[in-house]
Amino acid sequence: MKSEQSSCSCPAEVREFVFNLAFSPEVHRQAAALLRLREIALYESICRNHLRSFAGNALDMVTNITTAALLERLQWIFLRKWQIDNVRRIRPSWFHGQSGSVWRITPPVLATHEDFYFDATQVFNRFAGQDSWDRWLEDGTLILPGVFDHLHQVEAEIHGEFDMYTFHMGEQPTLPTMGWMRNMYHSGIQQLVYQDPGLWALTAAARPDKHWRLIAYPYNAKSAAPGQKTGFLHLDLDIRRHQNEGLGCNMVQSSVSLTDENDEGCTQVVRGFHKHFQEWVQTKKDTINSRVSPRSTTDMKGMYTAEDEDRFGKLEPAPCPAWGVRLSRADIIHGSTSKGTQLRRVIFPWFMAIKADHKTMENPDCMGWEELAQCHRDLIGPAKESLGNRPREGVAGVRFPGAIPMRSAFSLPQALVGLKKWTDQDVIFERNILLGPDDNQALRLAENIRNQLIDMYKCLHPLIEAREQLAYGDQSFFAENHPAQRPDEDISLDEDSE
Ligand SMILES: [Fe+2]
Repeated sequence: MKSEQSSCSCPAEVREFVFNLAFSPEVHRQAAALLRLREIALYESICRNHLRSFAGNALDMVTNITTAALLERLQWIFLRKWQIDNVRRIRPSWFHGQSGSVWRITPPVLATHEDFYFDATQVFNRFAGQDSWDRWLEDGTLILPGVFDHLHQVEAEIHGEFDMYTFHMGEQPTLPTMGWMRNMYHSGIQQLVYQDPGLWALTAAARPDKHWRLIAYPYNAKSAAPGQKTGFLHLDLDIRRHQNEGLGCNMVQSSVSLTDENDEGCTQVVRGFHKHFQEWVQTKKDTINSRVSPRSTTDMKGMYTAEDEDRFGKLEPAPCPAWGVRLSRADIIHGSTSKGTQLRRVIFPWFMAIKADHKTMENPDCMGWEELAQCHRDLIGPAKESLGNRPREGVAGVRFPGAIPMRSAFSLPQALVGLKKWTDQDVIFERNILLGPDDNQALRLAENIRNQLIDMYKCLHPLIEAREQLAYGDQSFFAENHPAQRPDEDISLDEDSE
C-alpha cells in the first residue's frame, strides 16, 4: 500500500524542501522558511501531511488540528513573519512548549526595599535579655553572659585550633605579642562567630545609626597565657578625625570570650564614658590638635589622668565569663589588665557597615567590600586591618592550610562574610525575620542557624587536622601532638625544667 504522503500531488520541490527542514530558534530563519515555501507553492495547494511537517519542522507548531485551522494559522503567521517572537507571545497555544506558564499563579516579584526600620530596643532585649537595652544606654559597654553557650559543646575543638595557631606563630622579637594571635584570622571558630545571627542583630541594634548592612572584618584572635604582658589603654579612634569627620562614631565593637576571665585578666573599661566623651574631649583639645600624624587609635596612657578618672569615671575591670560577649561603643575608653593569672582566649568579630553602594565601608581607610569578600571566600589574611593599619608581615593574601571553609547554609550569615550581598532577596528575607516584630520566630531562626553552624563545625573539624598534617608533614602541630608522639607520662620531667 502506498503511503499517503508519497501519493500526494505536492510538487517535488515542496517535498524536498519540507523533508530537509530543521527547526531553528532564530526567528529570521523561521521567516525565511515561511517565505521560501510561499515562493514554491501556495500554502492552500499543499497537502495536509506536508503542511503539518512544515509547520512542525520550521516553526515548532502544534499540528494536530484541522487542515483548515492550520492553514489559517500559517497565513496569519506569514503576514507577521518578521515578528514571530510576538506571535509566539500572543498565541502561545499555537506552538510547542509555549502552551502556558508552569505557574498556577504567576510568582510575585519580590521587592527589596532599601528603607528598612526595626525596633532596636525590642531586638536588643530579644537577643540580650530583658532590660539589657536600658543598661546599654546607661553604660555604653555591656557584658552579656551566655550568648555563645552553644559553643561549649565544641570547646575541645576550639582550643585545639588555638593551640595549632599558637604552634605555627613565628617569633617577632621586636614586637610585644600582647597575646595577639597575629596569624589567626579564619579559624573555624572565628568563622562561626563571624556568621552569628545574634551577635549581628545585637550590633545592628546597638549602633547609633542602626545600620544593619554589616560585614565581619577578619581580625586576629587573642590567646594570652598566664603572666603574659597584655596591658594597654586606648580608644579605637583618631579623636581629631572622629570630631571632624565623624570617623568611627557609629562603630560598636564586640568580643567573644572563650575562657572565664577574672579581675586580673580581663578588659578594663570606663563605664558610661560615652556620656562624658565630648566634655572630656574639650579638656584635651590642645593635645588632640597637636598630634601630627593620623593614628587609628588614641593611646590613653598619660592622657586619661587620675583627675580625669575622678571627674569622668574610673577605669574598672570587666571580666567576661566564657561564652559571653562584650559590646562597647567606640567612645568608651578601654584596655586590658597588665598580666593575667589564667589563660584568656577571645575572638573579635569587628562588624563594620557597608555603604549603600555596597562597595565602600564606613571607614574609608579599610578594605572595601569586594576585598573583604575575597578574604573570607579564600580564607586569606587582610591587606589592611580593621582600622586601616597595615597587617603584620605574612598576613596579607596568605592562606593557612589548616583553615577550612565553614559556610552557613542560611543566607544572612553568608552576607556577614561577603559570600552573598545584602541586596540578595534570601538575605533580606532572613533579615526581616531576625530584626522583625515576632520574637519567637526570630529566636527560632537564630537557633536553627546556630545549630547548623555547630553541626558543620563538628563535621569539618577533622579536616582541619588532616589538611594541616598534609601540608606540614613532620612539622605538623597535630603530628607532633599526636598521642603516639608524646613521651610516656610516667617519665618524670628532666631536672632542667624545674
Ligand atoms: Fe581597642
